[in-house]
Amino acid sequence: MLAKVLSFTLVGLEGKKIEVETDISKGLPAYDVVGLPDASVKESRERVRSAVKNAGYLFPANKITVNLAPADLKKEGSGLDLAIAVCILKADGEIKTRTHEDVIFLGELALDGTLRSVRGILPLLISARKAGYTRFVVPAVNKKEASYLPGVEVYAAENLGEVVTFLCGERELAPVAHQEYVTGDTVNPYAADFKYVKGQLAAKRAIEVAVSGGHNILMVGPPGAGKTMLAKCIPTIMPDMPFDEALEVTKIHSVAGQLDAEEGITRCRPFRTPHHTATTVSLTGGTTNSKPGEISLAHGGVLFLDELPEYQRGALEALRQPLEDRVITVARAASTVTYPANFMLVASMNPCPCGNYGSRQQECVCTANQIQRYRAKISGPLLDRIDLQLVVDSVKYEELTEKADGEPSASIKQRVDACRAIQRNRLQKDGIFTNSEMGEKQIKKYCVLSPECEAVMQNAFKTLNLSARARSRILKVARTIADLAGEEDISRIHLLEAIGYRTFDQSAR
Ligand SMILES: Nc1ncnc2c1ncn2[C@@H]1O[C@H](COP(=O)(O)OP(=O)(O)O)[C@@H](O)[C@H]1O
Ligand SMILES: [Mg+2]
Ligand SMILES: [Zn+2]
Repeated sequence: MLAKVLSFTLVGLEGKKIEVETDISKGLPAYDVVGLPDASVKESRERVRSAVKNAGYLFPANKITVNLAPADLKKEGSGLDLAIAVCILKADGEIKTRTHEDVIFLGELALDGTLRSVRGILPLLISARKAGYTRFVVPAVNKKEASYLPGVEVYAAENLGEVVTFLCGERELAPVAHQEYVTGDTVNPYAADFKYVKGQLAAKRAIEVAVSGGHNILMVGPPGAGKTMLAKCIPTIMPDMPFDEALEVTKIHSVAGQLDAEEGITRCRPFRTPHHTATTVSLTGGTTNSKPGEISLAHGGVLFLDELPEYQRGALEALRQPLEDRVITVARAASTVTYPANFMLVASMNPCPCGNYGSRQQECVCTANQIQRYRAKISGPLLDRIDLQLVVDSVKYEELTEKADGEPSASIKQRVDACRAIQRNRLQKDGIFTNSEMGEKQIKKYCVLSPECEAVMQNAFKTLNLSARARSRILKVARTIADLAGEEDISRIHLLEAIGYRTFDQSAR
């Protein structure tokens, strides 16, 4: 007998429909899976066979052919196990019902018939819903992840036996209850807080501007100046994540297999800190199993590269395209996939090999040549893409021993949240959320300069020898500074502050 069951498989962040067809015919016992299955799908043969037996059903002792269509699509992973098992039992006449033909089955099987979690449940559900499918059977461990998506009917099962008895009408499975997503956990879950950072008012201000608009920032200063400490406080002021952004981030983390199953959704903006020994591939993603890399896992949040010149040159250069396009395209065996990579780059570095160049406290002992060679590790084009370049010097002893706390992160975060809301309102119709994402069209529309400001800009362009890209980036930062002030127009002081954040790339040349 012939049977057909539906499933979905991942290609990048998209789910593609798979039709599992099974034919059982008289003949010598055999079990073949055809339709370009990769190694893990082939292994599924053995899992399915054991799971069916251990769930208490007879595995048909005939000639079984399983076809996965479309044949030209490379199927990855083990998420098709459940659909294959159900299809075999249907073809064998064990499951007779016809009311479940539009149900999508997702899940890996353990040898004892237990349903194991699959990567990318959320993107699979979203793609299937887009294609018009609304009913799903998923592993119970993936229940939480499926619960946030509206407009779907999801049944979560512990094992194959539950699924079969449910399909035969011998058992009820309650659909997973839909959960409303709520933003705004006001409790700071981090040990760090800006209130513990003494002094450094200019640095804190620049970081507030950068986080508010999602702009890239580089901190340059001597060892011990507090660069790492400042960066580690950034998560404490990152704005809440609205549902649409959370879904996008969750999709990536789910496909990477990094989603907390208990949480089911990524609520906190990511703060990724890859080590300086990180390879280009681990940053960009796209190995044989085509998982997203660090820069995609940082989507919607921060990629923190501490001690920037220590990173491999190739890895740094690989950041240039995503810093511009906000997506990364990676090659796979037969095709390419594109992952979102819209992150805010936070980086730190010493100003020179000894670390003291420009410091008020210590003397630099490096030659001009040494300094130049050191800075050349960061290419001009990469530096050009960093909106705010911040010189951080060590605080004085008196400041460090100051008893009073600084402004707490929670109150800075309120301003950041308010500033993000202004940007969202203005930019949502353009399909973006932050000032840093503005293209030339939006810059022209929302960063209009008065003749007085235009003169200031022109002057800076000449004296600082800025590139066209630097000009756009300054305008976007000025827009954020005006938004933080709650002002409609960019005024002279906003622009001057933004220009002031672009001085390091000049001193470096
Ligand atoms: N402004 C500051 N307020 C409080 N502690 C500071 C400050 N600056 C530096 N420190 C202390 O010095 C330590 C070293 O700072 P760190 O962030 O590692 O410096 P850097 O990364 O610039 O080399 C911090 O862990 C912190 O204890
Ligand atoms: Mg450090
Ligand atoms: Zn030096």
